[in-house]
Amino acid sequence: MPPEPHPDPLTTLAWLVESGADEAVQDTPVNRFVAPSPSRTSSPAPLTGEGNANARPARSHWEGGKPSSSTASGPTASGARPAPEAAANPSSDHIGRAMEVAAACTTLPELKATLESFEGSPLKRTATNTVFADGNPDARIMLIGEAPGRDEDRAGLPFVGRAGQLLDLMLASIGLSRTENAYITNVINWRPPGNRDPSPEEAAINLPFLRRHIELFDPGIIILLGAVSARHVLGKTEGIMRMRGKWSEYFVGARSVPAMPTLHPAYLLRRPIDKKLAWRDLQAIAAKARELKIL
Ligand code: URA
Repeated sequence: MPPEPHPDPLTTLAWLVESGADEAVQDTPVNRFVAPSPSRTSSPAPLTGEGNANARPARSHWEGGKPSSSTASGPTASGARPAPEAAANPSSDHIGRAMEVAAACTTLPELKATLESFEGSPLKRTATNTVFADGNPDARIMLIGEAPGRDEDRAGLPFVGRAGQLLDLMLASIGLSRTENAYITNVINWRPPGNRDPSPEEAAINLPFLRRHIELFDPGIIILLGAVSARHVLGKTEGIMRMRGKWSEYFVGARSVPAMPTLHPAYLLRRPIDKKLAWRDLQAIAAKARELKIL
């Protein structure tokens, strides 16, 4: 049982922080996926692929994440707590704003700059850097991981830690490298504090940027690293062991792009025995890339 709130707010806050609280949430749950009211004046710009199964944010184990966004749940400027409906709007506004600003970008550098100046994600407040991408922007093979970890947050680049080193070896085994013919990004561009799973709202705010990122990069093949990436990009709900090694289609406008989920290198560091499965996937990816004359 938590102790009675201390009358001194600073002492109470110190107690809460000590107990591990790092987010402001309100007493009543808020459904942040409530559809924006039709009377809203600014409707989000449509995105290519929006409304098809590929583009829909998948529900995943990230759903277990804590609701967050103190913007949506904190006291208003007047100090009053917002009603649940009122609190739902700021979050959908962030998603709408993300869709608007992402759709307006016409180049990868523009998208990167837009992400860097976007203030609608609560994850940005605790992250050191925006982690956009690494690799050759003219490559035809795009890899999509989950979210930056501590090393990536510090460096501002995806996959630079131990998992990244293994990923580089995996890529090299089929003639790929980020300096030459591969390009790497993540579903989430800011490190979730303590490497926790991002909440569904946090993922939903990031997804318009990821979809635009895919459109602007225009890949010939997409490699999805791990279940979270596969679920969010493909809108599937199965486990990675069922999805891995199988080709799916991701639509960039009317163009179908082959997309293959495979095992995440961080998982392979924990379960090296499954490297043989990843090796099979890599062989299939290399064969497809040769067939498409992009390797
Ligand atoms: N894991 C990921 O999914 N992405 C990174 O950038 C690093 C580790």
